[in-house]
Amino acid sequence: MQNSNYKMIKTAHLSLLHALSLCLLALCGFTYAGQSDNLYKLLKSRSSQNPPVSDSWAQPAADTRQDHSPVYIGPQDGLMQADKIDSLPGQPDGVDFDQYAGYVTVDPKAGRALFYYFVESPQNSSTNPLVLWLNGVANVIFLESPAGVGFSYSNTSSDYEHTGDKSTASDAYVFLVNWLGRFPQYKTRDFYITGESYAGHYVPQLAYTIQLNNEVTNQTVINLKGIAIGNAWIDDATNEKGQIDYWWTHALISDETHDELIAECHFVNDTSSAKCSSVINDSWAKLGNIDDYNIYAPICLHPELKNGSTGSVDDIDPCSDLYLETYLNTAAVQTAFHAKPTTWGECRLLQYMKIIQCKRSDLT
Ligand SMILES: *[C@@H]1O[C@H](CO)[C@@H](O)[C@H](O)[C@H]1NC(C)=O
Ligand SMILES: *[C@@H]1O[C@H](CO)[C@@H](O)[C@H](O)[C@H]1NC(C)=O
Ligand SMILES: *[C@@H]1O[C@H](CO)[C@@H](O)[C@H](O)[C@H]1NC(C)=O
Ligand SMILES: *[C@@H]1O[C@H](CO)[C@@H](O)[C@H](O)[C@H]1NC(C)=O
Ligand SMILES: *[C@@H]1O[C@H](CO)[C@@H](O)[C@H](O)[C@H]1NC(C)=O
Ligand SMILES: *[C@@H]1O[C@H](CO)[C@@H](O)[C@H](O)[C@H]1NC(C)=O
Repeated sequence: MQNSNYKMIKTAHLSLLHALSLCLLALCGFTYAGQSDNLYKLLKSRSSQNPPVSDSWAQPAADTRQDHSPVYIGPQDGLMQADKIDSLPGQPDGVDFDQYAGYVTVDPKAGRALFYYFVESPQNSSTNPLVLWLNGVANVIFLESPAGVGFSYSNTSSDYEHTGDKSTASDAYVFLVNWLGRFPQYKTRDFYITGESYAGHYVPQLAYTIQLNNEVTNQTVINLKGIAIGNAWIDDATNEKGQIDYWWTHALISDETHDELIAECHFVNDTSSAKCSSVINDSWAKLGNIDDYNIYAPICLHPELKNGSTGSVDDIDPCSDLYLETYLNTAAVQTAFHAKPTTWGECRLLQYMKIIQCKRSDLT
């Protein structure tokens, strides 16, 4: 899985898959950016008086089961055909699968819509299961979620400030129910949800939302068969402690720095002291300019904007994220994807999401 993931990052098209999948119910990584700053911002935001999380996942059952109302389902007739991609600029010849992309409105009143890219499997697409992001033999939907990520948007700008785990799960659910209306041949298909990193929250929370709705509403029953999460962010304490252990056991920080971290950071709950933040910030600086996702990999030192990688698919090009950004910001590409003309960024997010969705990934 890890290996095949690396192989996917090579060509412009495949790295597009990679990045969209990172954004699926997940977060988008900037491995070459200033991690110490990002971490510091994250820690600071969490220990501030106004922590950025506006709708956390705490106690989901109590307030959903009782006053549950049916979710928005809009007309989907003809939209599947309209979403079909003729061809993507620069995509190699011989594409043997159908691809679709477009928006699914999840809240017509606020004008909120989630962007997806759907790839049907080249063979047996009519029987293969439906998966939210996983490479392999399946039909795969890549979803940019929540609104504000990638091409997904809301016409109500305050939506971006009120995003949290709960609204992300419920929007993703409304997306799915409507998407299945648009692609009715998948309505009863075996369905799996997958993701990585912060999807440690999103995947189980969406699964929970689906199960709840399957039981209490008389709407589309989603045939959820399983979930899979790679590199899951479950809770801050485990993640941060694990990260520091990793640094120390890989000789990225000294015994002295490690001792200091253990003394200042307690990892019990989400609040971090200013002292802990500062020691962690210093530790990031000591790690130096490395790819913390893969400490043995080359890093992108001389980013030259190119339209795509020309190298062999067996070479890791650490600058591939940059080609991707260039590619997705090309007008012809946005048109082919049926995306609203916009500036696509791996972390095109506002306020809270900027920190939680993007910057957290720098830590995992
Ligand atoms: C957002 O507003 C634009 C411009 O009025 C409109 O075309 C679009 O359909 C709206 N989006 C949604 C999801 O309602
Ligand atoms: C497609 O389905 C057939 C019949 O179940 C099976 O023999 C074949 O291996 C499948 N092909 C792929 C690529 O999974
Ligand atoms: C569910 O919907 C069907 C079809 O609209 C209807 O016949 C049935 O009575 C509904 N059941 C409940 C429990 O609302
Ligand atoms: C979490 O941290 C706060 C502030 O340090 C502390 O008051 C609280 O007791 C901690 N909670 C747990 C469960 O340790
Ligand atoms: C974090 O570290 C950077 C250097 O890597 C430094 O410029 C910055 O002031 C530090 N911030 C804090 C709050 O310690
Ligand atoms: C990318 O491709 C376009 C169109 O083929 C071309 O005009 C442009 O110069 C290329 N950019 C780079 C950096 O190669």
